[in-house]
Amino acid sequence: MPYLIAGNWKMNGTLASAEALAAELIATVRGAAAQAEVVLCPPAPLIPAVRAVTKGTAVAVGGQDCHTKEKGAHTGDVSPVLLAELGCRFVIVGHSERRADHGETDELVRAKAEAALKAGLTPIICVGETEAERERGETTTVIARQVTGSVPGGATAEKVVIAYEPVWAIGTGKTATTADIAAVHGQIATLFAAGRGGSDGLRILYGGSVKAANAKEILATNNVSGALVGGASLDAAEFSRIIESCPR
Ligand code: 13P
Repeated sequence: MPYLIAGNWKMNGTLASAEALAAELIATVRGAAAQAEVVLCPPAPLIPAVRAVTKGTAVAVGGQDCHTKEKGAHTGDVSPVLLAELGCRFVIVGHSERRADHGETDELVRAKAEAALKAGLTPIICVGETEAERERGETTTVIARQVTGSVPGGATAEKVVIAYEPVWAIGTGKTATTADIAAVHGQIATLFAAGRGGSDGLRILYGGSVKAANAKEILATNNVSGALVGGASLDAAEFSRIIESCPR
């Protein structure tokens, strides 16, 4: 599987700025895109506009969240089927900001991932420990609980992506050491393989203050097959340099 570099725009952008950023990204990543699969995840209302700009290019579009149901009385939620119809190929589920802001549990995240798969989307399932959990030495326990609870049992390696985002590294400028990243990614691969007979083809992304300056080292780390990028994905030149940092 090629490396995957995903840009999570979070709740940023206007219609005009999103179109401009997508257009700039298409122009800048043109050469770099050969090195990795690239996906942009704008706020849901901006998906059609970003998709219109990226259509026909190698850059894919994804959602930042989806509901567990295809349709119904769920005010404010987004159907995975609609995301697929709008041209999305991916959807982030279980981001720590959703777990924290909206009380999302592993069980809910797993149901969202299952709904995404059913709609033909590849879920990017996020896991990661908080600073307090890390300080208490609970990283391994938290990762085990989240991976076991959030990743659909029947999911095959090629159909899902798992993103390790230590909560304390998100938007803080702090990154985990490559030794820590390798250890957690190795644990995730082992957990995924258990009961599935293997983890070949599974992409495990690292996220949390990834930028051009640290991307090369992080992307060269054992068991790292891409990055989930927040702040740095809002800058076309910076994001392109991250894509170019994927090992050839
Ligand atoms: P930053 O890259 O801004 O730290 O955000 C990471 C993230 O949460 C991506 O989903």
